[in-house]
Amino acid sequence: MQVSVIGCGYLGAVHAASMVTLGHTAIGIDVDPSKIDLLASGTAPFYEPGLPELLTGARDSGRLTFSTDMAAAAGSRVHFLCVGTPQQHGEFRADLSHVESAFVALLPHLRPGDLVVGKSTVPVGTAETLAERLEGTGATLVWNPEFLREGFAVQDTLHPDRLVYGVPTDDAGVATPAGVTAREVLDEVYAAPLAEGTPLVVTDYATAQLVKVAANSFLATKISFINAMAELCEATGGDVARLADAIGYDARIGRRFLNAGLGFGGGCLPKDIRAFMARAGELGVDQALSFLREVDAINMRRRVRMVDLAREVCGGSIVGARVAVLGAAFKPDSDDVRDSPALSVAGQMQLQGAQVTVTDPQAVANARRTWPGLAFADTVAEAVAGADVVLLATEWSEYRALDPEALAPLVGERRILDGRNVLDPALWRSAGWTYRALGRP
Ligand code: UDX
Repeated sequence: MQVSVIGCGYLGAVHAASMVTLGHTAIGIDVDPSKIDLLASGTAPFYEPGLPELLTGARDSGRLTFSTDMAAAAGSRVHFLCVGTPQQHGEFRADLSHVESAFVALLPHLRPGDLVVGKSTVPVGTAETLAERLEGTGATLVWNPEFLREGFAVQDTLHPDRLVYGVPTDDAGVATPAGVTAREVLDEVYAAPLAEGTPLVVTDYATAQLVKVAANSFLATKISFINAMAELCEATGGDVARLADAIGYDARIGRRFLNAGLGFGGGCLPKDIRAFMARAGELGVDQALSFLREVDAINMRRRVRMVDLAREVCGGSIVGARVAVLGAAFKPDSDDVRDSPALSVAGQMQLQGAQVTVTDPQAVANARRTWPGLAFADTVAEAVAGADVVLLATEWSEYRALDPEALAPLVGERRILDGRNVLDPALWRSAGWTYRALGRP
């Protein structure tokens, strides 16, 4: 099938290449010519494991092309909207300007029978409005949220946990004839994952849009729950990592997403819970989501607590202290620094007078652009040289595997802050380090 993918960021670039891997012909469209040039040459514009191989394979097949011209979408049967919905500056609401401009640009190129498939995370109600605006074109709108995790984007797109289609329904919630056809077309698009047994939920627009924000809100709540327990552990001498293991054995709770530490960041979880709260307010049900305000607050408090911990281990002040921050990306296996807890803590410590040097295996270039005031190093050795305290802020595998004996001669003082609870305290302490972590004695 011929498909177009509008927006070639973390979501769209992976989606376009995956469409080709699934047997389709795809055209990726983006307003940023530098991104399109890179993608057209088979180069990923960001770090995502597996994407370079997928792009080269897709390009060699001759079935993946890229363009900055929306007219290139004409002739595709399915048009995936994959543009970003960042947080509106200074507000909780989502900024829908990219969805709006992509949709308006696509409209004149639609033919009867085409599907416009929304994948972006949007405030519930957006799909309904877009569907109304398709009236008269003969095209149908479907909401098909994307659940990919950065760092696992290729795997999550080719082998998703589940597929959700929000199709047009009648007043009784039953798919309209256009909805039934839309489902058949999407079943063809996703024939390979469906054949693997991927669960499929076909529902109305509202539910499909809510599924995405509900999932992300649940994940954020799970992380903030364990970080709240970390606060209790700090007040009582308990160990949040053991606590997470113990409650995680209960299959109803589960151990995943119970890693306490610096908390969540990135381009999705923080802005999605805020946009969800804003939307609930508009709908007059803000009380239903008031707990998300706490989820957000718990998350932000972890960053403040980490700066306090640095101050504590440095004897009451970090003014003039040399701090090495290992990690700039919001999570490992990504070069994404959007709302990165690592950089937020690094920035705070610098503001409070510390001399901070940040390193990261992939994200230094992005971090330098976003935080030009911070100092950066390309290697761990460079970053930790003479450091009074080392903070592990993003749990890249190379940082988890650091050898305390090997690191010791490089630093000024043997003090390590484990911001992600991934190091073995006994190992570090036996090598003469002061080891501190959030929520652990
Ligand atoms: C998330 C959702 O997982 C994904 O389904 C959705 O499509 C987009 O948003 P992503 O932002 O890529 O994906 O990262 P995720 O793996 O969910 O991690 C989010 C943040 O939570 C990271 O900063 C991570 O470090 C943090 N985290 C995660 C924790 O602090 N503790 C955990 O136990 C898990």
